[in-house]
Amino acid sequence: MIALSGVWLTLGERPVLNDISFDVQAGQTKVILGASGSGKTTILRVILGLYRPDRGSIRVDGQEITELDERNLTLVRQDMAMVFQGAALFDSLTVRENVWYRLWEHSRLSDETIEQTVQESLQFVGLADTVDKMPAELSGGMRKRVGIARALASGAKVLLYDEPTGGLDPINACMISRLITKLSTKGITQVVVTHDLDAAYRVADRIVMIQRGRVIFDGTPDGLQQSDDPAIRGFIDPGSLTNGWETFANPPNPVD
Ligand SMILES: Nc1ncnc2c1ncn2[C@@H]1O[C@H](COP(=O)(O)OP(=O)(O)O)[C@@H](O)[C@H]1O
Ligand SMILES: [Mg+2]
Repeated sequence: MIALSGVWLTLGERPVLNDISFDVQAGQTKVILGASGSGKTTILRVILGLYRPDRGSIRVDGQEITELDERNLTLVRQDMAMVFQGAALFDSLTVRENVWYRLWEHSRLSDETIEQTVQESLQFVGLADTVDKMPAELSGGMRKRVGIARALASGAKVLLYDEPTGGLDPINACMISRLITKLSTKGITQVVVTHDLDAAYRVADRIVMIQRGRVIFDGTPDGLQQSDDPAIRGFIDPGSLTNGWETFANPPNPVD
């Protein structure tokens, strides 16, 4: 469904992605795991065609997107929906309108069909009763769930999440992870960027781990857990390191 091959990207003077290759099979939930600053959000941006790589190939649903013009990129993007780090709701719109607008923008559906889709997707995330509320009346966890409902309602085949559990308490984080798992059973392809190891293990079919813009692991959650690579152990089990943990906890940027 999505395949990156030999992707290099420099932003400003900074080499941000260095020879990134991995793929995401249709229907799979792939976690991109890594410390802050490792390049995770940038990977989502190249998948959406918001950054064009210096070198390498990115295929989405068989189509090479690095060569597309803006108009064709827009078409590819319609099959993908992003769940943003801060939920990114419009504060002046109700929950209904927040979920509604993307459908209204990209389709010629009747108002009745849109209303039904909005209701169904809010029901899916357990928030059917908030439809007339304003975002400010909702907790952080609920706002994230509205963001997921909006992505779901768009009918996209691929959902991309940037730190979906970021800033949430463990109960709300767990609720979000459960939703991602539940969406996976609907056959939706998902890419989940996170530094939250618990969430990664809860949702992942496969995990790709990034360090300083490079892939240092690509495999199953069990494979990650069993790895004895010091860079991986330093991230997943920092307490096990007797010294040198600072190197792994906060990897210096190559140009810093
Ligand atoms: N527009 C930009 N210009 C220059 N450097 C950037 C830009 N965007 C991101 N970076 C740098 O790229 C690196 C990776 O950023 P990012 O993908 O946001 O990491 P993550 O999401 O893993 O925290 C960081 O060192 C960041 O400072
Ligand atoms: Mg990020």
